[in-house]
Amino acid sequence: MLCLKVPTDPQWAAEAARDVDAVLVDHAHCEMKAASNALSLAARHSEDPEVVRVLCDVAREEIEHFQRVLALLVARGLKLGPPPVDRYAADLRSAAQVLPRSSGSRSGIVTPLVDRLLVGALIEARSCERFKLLAQATADHPSLREHHALWSELLAAEARHYRTFVDLAVHVAGGDHAAIERRLETLAVLEAGIVGALARGPGEASRASIHG
Ligand SMILES: [Fe+2]
Ligand SMILES: [Fe+2]
Repeated sequence: MLCLKVPTDPQWAAEAARDVDAVLVDHAHCEMKAASNALSLAARHSEDPEVVRVLCDVAREEIEHFQRVLALLVARGLKLGPPPVDRYAADLRSAAQVLPRSSGSRSGIVTPLVDRLLVGALIEARSCERFKLLAQATADHPSLREHHALWSELLAAEARHYRTFVDLAVHVAGGDHAAIERRLETLAVLEAGIVGALARGPGEASRASIHG
């Protein structure tokens, strides 16, 4: 389960299996947001060539994922539509922003960029977990063979992205693995609280989104 503190509620997978096309539309938006988030971070931190190189690689891969999901949407006659509000990602970024940065590590190690990278790592980890659940939920449905193949393949890429974001955070922190592990642990606890709150929220449990 990578660094995640709580598993997704089994109810989520049951809801997702009932409307995989709605999940597919949501998934497409997630890939697009992942690409634009990586590019936006690279543009804002152009002083570090390694940050730019790694984030551009991630962005390119996320665009490829988006195009694959989009092709499946088109083949099924589905429309992308406007992006849904991603409360999960917004709440996670807000929680990281208000978390004191000096506790548990040398002052200055945990920067806003470090937090953004670790939030990115957690989003990748949660996506990976949910793609696995989706792959399992679609495994025995011949009409959903392409969904199953897509989610089975992409979960490995998102697991790799999780590692990429954590490693890049270590680089930004000057190689301080221990500080990054501590910060990731703290943020993972916050992430677990956000996932739980969204699942308990009104109408949220039935909204089978990748992040909701
Ligand atoms: Fe992706
Ligand atoms: Fe990813």
